Amino acid sequence: MPDHLIGLLLGAEEDWPQAFEAILGRVGKIQLADGSTHTFRSERLTIEPFDLVDPVRTELVIDRLAYWYYHPREWLKKAALVNGTYLLNSPFTFQSMEKHSAYCAMLRLGLKVPRTILVPYKNPVDNVRWAYTSQKYNQPFDLDKIAEELGYPMYMKPFDGGGWRGVSRINNRDDLHQAYDESGEMLMHLQATVEYEHFARALSIGPETMVMKFQPDEPMHNRYAVSHGFLSEKAGGEAVAISRIVNAFFGWEFNSCEMLVADDEVYPIDYANACPDVAVTSLHYYFPWAISALVRWSVFTLATGRKGRVDLHTRRYFEIADDDSLSYDAKITAYLALADEHFDSARYWQWCAENLPHLDEQVHDWVTSKDFERLLRETVVSMYPAHEHDQFMAHFKGLTDLWAADNKH
Ligand SMILES: Nc1ncnc2c1ncn2[C@@H]1O[C@H](COP(=O)(O)OP(=O)(O)O)[C@@H](O)[C@H]1O
Ligand SMILES: [Mg+2]
Repeated sequence: MPDHLIGLLLGAEEDWPQAFEAILGRVGKIQLADGSTHTFRSERLTIEPFDLVDPVRTELVIDRLAYWYYHPREWLKKAALVNGTYLLNSPFTFQSMEKHSAYCAMLRLGLKVPRTILVPYKNPVDNVRWAYTSQKYNQPFDLDKIAEELGYPMYMKPFDGGGWRGVSRINNRDDLHQAYDESGEMLMHLQATVEYEHFARALSIGPETMVMKFQPDEPMHNRYAVSHGFLSEKAGGEAVAISRIVNAFFGWEFNSCEMLVADDEVYPIDYANACPDVAVTSLHYYFPWAISALVRWSVFTLATGRKGRVDLHTRRYFEIADDDSLSYDAKITAYLALADEHFDSARYWQWCAENLPHLDEQVHDWVTSKDFERLLRETVVSMYPAHEHDQFMAHFKGLTDLWAADNKH
């Protein structure tokens, strides 16, 4: 009877890990059609010396550290290669875990990435050999000319992005030079502006994707609006498809993406996040879905013996991209079929229906429990000053109660 152990490599977060532990604890024993029974536990992993051939007890790891720290990253690589441990996400995909690679892949697939130009560093990188290399090979370039060709207003932002660091909207030449001078040692894209009607943020976990209406100018607690059907059916379907396609293409399993929608056309702009925000204070209404999806995908992966993958199969996508007889919509459909094959989507949903019929009710039960209220209060207390505790507690409790009311069984 396999007793599956999931490892959590965590930083400062407490909210979603506790939610994950609580919901996983309610999965119980699963008996599959082949007669095997499966149970699931999780454990928080610690950082310690390891021998490269040490066994790894956890079959699957949800990682929140490796993007920033080498030690956990190198442990994960060893676990993937030596021990076959399944990873959300695999550090082998991090080299391309920035906007720039995602833009390149999406352009190659014919998606509507706004025109984007990478300019060299403003300030020389800190390397003793740079002066020589730069003098010999660095081409002078005319920033104004590039900007004029691209057209104002535009965005200047780091090629690897994240959390609005170094992002500016450039309206004219003065903005352009000021932003470039300030970019220092950050490597910058210039990107054409999309004048959008809707900002869609999609969180994906395995084959599950939630497209949420995002309000980037609002304070953190109000960025995700609870809004169903804010996109047309076509744009909504496309947003889901693009998210799943890019994730499958790079082997990302837990990622959030941003798309701007104008005239019912979907423009992807921010597409790689090794450590997507799943805080209850950001996701609120969507938090129970997110943690359930993490549990569902982990449990499915372990119980069905799904194998992790470190190689990419880009050629299959490019063959579709290069087929001139296919329209944009037909290509999206064909890429999506590859992505669904990668994530085993159809089997996943059927498997969940057969083997986790009780999970939704358990999640509902937990989200309406005192334990959830305690977790929410602790999270609010750790994030907001004392005089705002009651206000934000009421805000988030109202939204999670709304989820509970909408998802009664
Ligand atoms: N091409 C664009 N057109 C319109 N708005 C943009 C564009 N690029 C970025 N933005 C705005 O700037 C914000 C930050 O850019 P983004 O690429 O998401 O960087 P980050 O990785 O820091 O989140 C976006 O959320 C959006 O509001
Ligand atoms: Mg962004």
